[in-house]
Amino acid sequence: MPLVDTREMFKKAYDGGYAVGAFNVNNMEIVQGITEAAQEEHAPLILQVSKGARAYANHTYLVKLVEAAVIECPDIPIALHLDHGPDFETCKSCIDGGFTSVMIDASGKPFEENIEITKKVVEYAHDHGVVVEAELGTLAGIEDEVKVAAGEASYTRPEEVEEFVSRTGCDSLAIAIGTSHGAYKFKPGTKPQLRFDVLEEVSRRLPGFPIVLHGSSSVPQEYVEMINTYGGAMPGAIGVPEDQLRHAASLSVCKINIDSDLRLAMTGTIRKFFAEHPDKFDPREYLKPARANLKELVRHKLIDVLGCAGKA
Ligand code: G3H
Ligand code: 13P
Ligand code: ZN
Repeated sequence: MPLVDTREMFKKAYDGGYAVGAFNVNNMEIVQGITEAAQEEHAPLILQVSKGARAYANHTYLVKLVEAAVIECPDIPIALHLDHGPDFETCKSCIDGGFTSVMIDASGKPFEENIEITKKVVEYAHDHGVVVEAELGTLAGIEDEVKVAAGEASYTRPEEVEEFVSRTGCDSLAIAIGTSHGAYKFKPGTKPQLRFDVLEEVSRRLPGFPIVLHGSSSVPQEYVEMINTYGGAMPGAIGVPEDQLRHAASLSVCKINIDSDLRLAMTGTIRKFFAEHPDKFDPREYLKPARANLKELVRHKLIDVLGCAGKA
């Protein structure tokens, strides 16, 4: 089937009490690992591309890689989404360039300005059959070159969501409930806990409306240890507990963003490969196990965390 937008995926996810995985793609091996797992598990899928990914790999290469995956995975719906679109121009370029979904992230701007920018993107996107994710509230961590310190992050204010959604016309809403970008989400020794009270109040005010969680890597300790064992240094890397993500997916959260976990799986595997095979220098030899481990990690997410296996 051709690339789809996220409308039907989200409706089914909302009604079915699961979430669709949105995985960031930057190169061929990442696209292959994710899509092979989703095809085998018969799961709907969102492949997302950040501004940084477009700068690294080039818009056309990424679109063509995703189009190749669509041909190779004929049984599952796949959406191509812009992650953290920083401005109207970037969103327009992706809408004109084959994406089926875009995020405009004006969450760092004042409320009225966020509404104004989001509305402009929504009008252009909807005219072109593309859906829009917007964001209210700010997450801590690093996304592209924007770094938000933990103390400056703020939870979404539920009392703002109805006005924001009705005035912008956005199709889904990313909210801040304690997740954050990157591999260091919680301080060692503290208990990671998402704010389900905020999520539930948002959902009560927006019945049936798809909610998105960013910063939702669980930072598998298996890969943190692999990285640290084989020459890396990532002490205190901690993610969101998977049972809390599963609970969010059973509520109104229809899209869960995962990127850092893919990076950890690839980096850990490659570090281990180099340590065990210091004589090897063919990129195919180390990218192959990295892609295989990424695929198994995605399979685990689809089955055990998102609950979307078998839902395509
Ligand atoms: O939220 C950000 C995503 O993990 C994308 O990261 O901007 O380094 O491509 P990136
Ligand atoms: P992680 O850093 O937790 O993987 O979050 C990814 C993300 O939110 C992409 O938009
Ligand atoms: Zn994000």
